Amino acid sequence: MTTTTNIESLWVFALASKCRAFTQENVACSLLIMFLAWFSMTLFYWAHPGGPAWGKFMFKRGSSSVPVNTPIPGPRGFPLIGNMNLMVSLAHRKIAAAAETCNAKRLMAFSLGDTRVIVTCNPDVAKEILNSSVFADRPVKESAYSLMFNRAIGFAPYGVYWRTLRRIAANHLFTPKQIKGAETQRLDIASQMVDMFGDHKEGFCVRQVLKRASLNNMMCSVFGREYKLNSLNNEVEELRDLVEEGYELLGMLNWTDHLPWLVDFDPQKIRSRCSKLVPKVNRFVGGIIAAHRAQNGEKNMDFVHVLLSLQGPDKLSDSDMIAVLWEMIFRGTDTVAVLIEWILARMVLHPDVRSRVHDELDKVVGRSRSVAESDLSGLVYLTAVIKEVLRLHPPGPLLSWARLAITDTTIDGYHVPEGTTAMVNMWAISRDPQVWKDPLEFMPDRFVSKEGEVEFSILGSDLRLAPFGSGRRVCPGKNLALTTVSFWVATLLHEFEWLPPSEQNYNNNKVDLSELLRLSCEMANPLTVKLRPRRKLSFSQ
Ligand code: HEM
Repeated sequence: MTTTTNIESLWVFALASKCRAFTQENVACSLLIMFLAWFSMTLFYWAHPGGPAWGKFMFKRGSSSVPVNTPIPGPRGFPLIGNMNLMVSLAHRKIAAAAETCNAKRLMAFSLGDTRVIVTCNPDVAKEILNSSVFADRPVKESAYSLMFNRAIGFAPYGVYWRTLRRIAANHLFTPKQIKGAETQRLDIASQMVDMFGDHKEGFCVRQVLKRASLNNMMCSVFGREYKLNSLNNEVEELRDLVEEGYELLGMLNWTDHLPWLVDFDPQKIRSRCSKLVPKVNRFVGGIIAAHRAQNGEKNMDFVHVLLSLQGPDKLSDSDMIAVLWEMIFRGTDTVAVLIEWILARMVLHPDVRSRVHDELDKVVGRSRSVAESDLSGLVYLTAVIKEVLRLHPPGPLLSWARLAITDTTIDGYHVPEGTTAMVNMWAISRDPQVWKDPLEFMPDRFVSKEGEVEFSILGSDLRLAPFGSGRRVCPGKNLALTTVSFWVATLLHEFEWLPPSEQNYNNNKVDLSELLRLSCEMANPLTVKLRPRRKLSFSQ
């Protein structure tokens, strides 16, 4: 970029130097020439399909090295900023609409300021991108750097360090044995949720309980700390505030990530908020690490102990450990709570589906006892319901965090240069009428496999629905997440009838499916319900 900028400005100065003397008129004339040159270059870049970042790149590359082929279609957006507007608010919907307009559902190019972006709304092209080793990296936002996430799995550059972290997490946090080992903890939290929900039968907003339950669950797996849902605890409150703040900062579209000339200004105050948050996270997580180090004797092997026990090349520095632990808490908390809220909302909205789930629970579990995790494999219809909710309301509609091309490559026949950011619009794919029959209908039956059919896997092999991503960077917490969500939802549905609040008690008793996209896509208006217990016996029986 610097080289071209210099060349661009040199000929302007050459022109200016023709002026004999630096009289006021000549200075003004030079400035005008410079402005006109800059303005015409800006328009020139902008005129390229995909907008200014693509135009600038093509101009800089000139006719050198790579043969020019057809440009990737895409909207131009605005001069200089390109299509920043697409990323504001419900980005997945805006991008899908733009791709439709440009007839570029397979592959569309657009610009976020100086950032070249490609996006696909097609499952085959999504597979090509996500499963390619070229896209095993992620673009790191300034906020992610500031919050140390570049040292955690999600944003660590593709390489030895990232591979080590994934291996450690896969071997010590996400193995089937480890997930099974946390069963009692999930059961305990589920029973606390049932007690809390049981105390609020009318006009009750479920989100806060779900978020607290999810946070307590991660606190237990990662930090080995156990907290009660119904009692206030300073440590949990502090961590919740830290997670909320981090969540908001990472979820924001940071203009300085894409417009380098804004870097010095920090117009959205993201940098200053990050710099206030980081010492608090260091103090909090560092304190937990220190407490674990000080422990003697019998240890309950939580993730902190695992990290502390690593030796040799796997050994992590304290600051890297803080980043890894903080990310796990951060990732595992909201996604799970957001998904459960969507599932419960759909249950309130579709009494026919709800009653089929209840029939299945009565048949497989029976009303005389509560759900056990061993029942989950028999709950075929409930599994289909969860998949259908993930199809219509994927927590990461754009798969949360994008990918970055490590080298030049070809996608869907188009040349994609190194350094291009790639996104997959999973939301658009999972609502595409060419991929799904009656895509906007809520029909869990589509996931109930018929005799002899293979069950539809949502774990990344079939890109028609891959809410956990796919390829090298696929979500490592997917099995843990699905076990937690399935067990908690089965329990909550087995214990209660989920109904809309009565009209006389609640003005707005409709389930509102409007979305709010932060880091995850959550319900814009939290779900409010009326609960009727289904089983007379207590939870433990
Ligand atoms: C419903 C719950 C969840 C959903 C929908 C979800 C979704 C995703 C998605 C879409 C990605 C990006 C995948 C890609 O680029 O191909 C991701 C990455 C990741 N997720 Fe999850 N996730 C969930 C739960 C969890 C949990 C419980 C944890 C851990 C406790 C977790 C940890 C991670 C990590 C560490 C990454 C980064 C992986 C990497 O870059 O190598 N997730 N997740």
